[in-house]
This record gives sequence, C-alpha cells and structure tokens, in this order.
Amino acid sequence: MSASYCFEGRVVLVTGASSGIGAETAIHFAAASCDGLALIGRDKDRLEEVSIKCQTQGLAIEKILIISEDLASDGAPGRIMDAVIQKFGKLNILINNAGQGGMTSLADPELSQKFDHLYSLNVRATLLLSQLAVPHLIETKGNIVTVSSICAKAAVPNMLVYNLTKAALDYFTESAARCLATKQVRVNSVNPGSIATPLHTRAGREEKVVRELARRIHPLGRIGESEEVSRAILFLASDHASFTTGETLSVDGGRFLLCP
Ligand SMILES: NC(=O)c1ccc[n+]([C@@H]2O[C@H](COP(=O)([O-])OP(=O)(O)OC[C@H]3O[C@@H](n4cnc5c(N)ncnc54)[C@H](OP(=O)(O)O)[C@@H]3O)[C@@H](O)[C@H]2O)c1
Repeated sequence: MSASYCFEGRVVLVTGASSGIGAETAIHFAAASCDGLALIGRDKDRLEEVSIKCQTQGLAIEKILIISEDLASDGAPGRIMDAVIQKFGKLNILINNAGQGGMTSLADPELSQKFDHLYSLNVRATLLLSQLAVPHLIETKGNIVTVSSICAKAAVPNMLVYNLTKAALDYFTESAARCLATKQVRVNSVNPGSIATPLHTRAGREEKVVRELARRIHPLGRIGESEEVSRAILFLASDHASFTTGETLSVDGGRFLLCP
C-alpha cells in the first residue's frame, strides 16, 4: 500500500473500524504515518485483527487504542472520548464511519423500532461523539469526515429510514462546517454508492444480488471497493483539502448522475 498522504503528529479516531470501509480507512491512516489511532467497534476480535494489519503498515502497537463499545449505548461517546484523550492527549481527526443499513418503507409494521435503532447509531451517536470531539479539534485545528451515503442525496427505494439518517448526516456536515469554520475546523463527508462490504449481508441481502444490482445502477458498471472510499476520506482529512469544508463528496461510480 502506498502512503501518498502524511499524517505525522496527528491522532485519528475511526468509528466502525472493525470492518469494511472503517477497517480499510484505519489501515490507510496507519500506512500514512499517523501518530495515534483509536479503533472503535463492538467486535473486539475483529478490531484486534485490524490492529495487526495497522502494525503491518508500520504503526507501533503502543500507538493503537482499541475500544470495544456499542456506540448507540448510553454514555458510550463520553467513554470513548475520555479514553482517547487519556491515551493520546489530543485529537486531530474524527472519522464518523460506524453505521448500519436495512430495508424499511412506510408499510413496515416495525418502522418505529427500526427508526429508533438506526437513528440512535447513524445520527445520534455521530452527533454526540462529534460534540465531544469539537473542543479537542478546535485546539488542534483538526477536522471531521463523516461517512454518509448516496442515499442522503437521492431517495433509494425501500430504504426510508436509512435515507433519512444519511440525509440528516449531510445536514450535520453542512451545519457543523458553518459553525466551526471560524475556528479553522473543517467538516466534510463522503457519500458512497454501493460498496463491497459486509453491510449488505448484515442487512439481509445476498452478496450476488447486491453486486448484480450495483453493476446495473452505477454508470461505471460495477460495485465500489472500500479502498476507493478510504482514499477519498484520507484526502478530505488531509492538508491537501485545507480549503475544503462543508463538502459532501460522492464516491458512487457516477450513480448520482442517474438520480435527477
Ligand atoms: N457498503 C455500502 O454500500 C455503503 C454505501 C454507502 C454508505 N455506507 C456507509 O459506510 C459506513 C461503513 O459501512 P460498511 O459498508 O463498511 O459496513 P460494515 O462492513 O458492516 O461496517 C460497519 C462498521 O460499523 C460498526 N458498527 C455497527 N454498529 C455499531 C454500533 N452499534 N456500535 C459501534 N460500531 C458499530 C461495525 O462494527 P461492529 O460490528 O464491530 O460493531 C463495523 O465496523 C456506514 O456508515 C454505512 O452506512 C456503506
């Protein structure tokens, strides 16, 4: 893996680092010489596996902090931020990546429960963790990158609640970017199309079906890879994007072009 960005001296927190886009992003930050890396997720074993891959990229084990927490549980954002500051003394970059998907429509009898479940993770936890990060990001003139979705920009059928949560995240990005710009804290998001990660099978969809659908709905004619999203995340988090804030960057194989 080539490290075209350099994050020397920067402490990075990645939520949802045990799988998919978050795992890939953590490994990229490790390869780009970050100074500290906090890996957040529920599955400790998978976080340990990602930690080993980060060490393979040259990041010393003492520069990695694994925190196994359900982000949606009471007090989790506070416990996470306390642990990060206690270990590293600062925070430069927050990657709000943890999220879940799932099918919902207005006809769904479990709409209310699904709304509460997805909103508490995708939106509420992101908001609360960002709130706690802000004082530290102001000190370091750091930045936030949130992993949103094409679903924030175009209403994907039968994904009502997921669409709502991601639309909320884009407004979070734009609102927070306006509030924090005078403090020199940048806030951006990436908005992926369909990416080959376990998210789809976790949400009950067959991988083969997801790939075939992705081939048809993306102008580039294929599903995306986690690495393609990670590269966009690292760009937005880096000094190369020093004049970019409030951006919601599509990484979607041109899919949004087909959504009038
Ligand atoms: N894959 C796509 O097509 C796609 C497209 C657009 C946007 N996205 C977004 O990309 C982000 C990453 O998804 P992915 O595709 O990489 O899926 P993934 O492989 O399923 O990864 C999701 C990550 O979120 C973590 N997570 C889930 N629930 C959590 C909770 N309650 N507390 C803490 N961590 C939790 C998971 O870790 P644990 O299981 O260890 O908790 C895992 O590390 C999500 O926000 C998703 O909405 C994905």
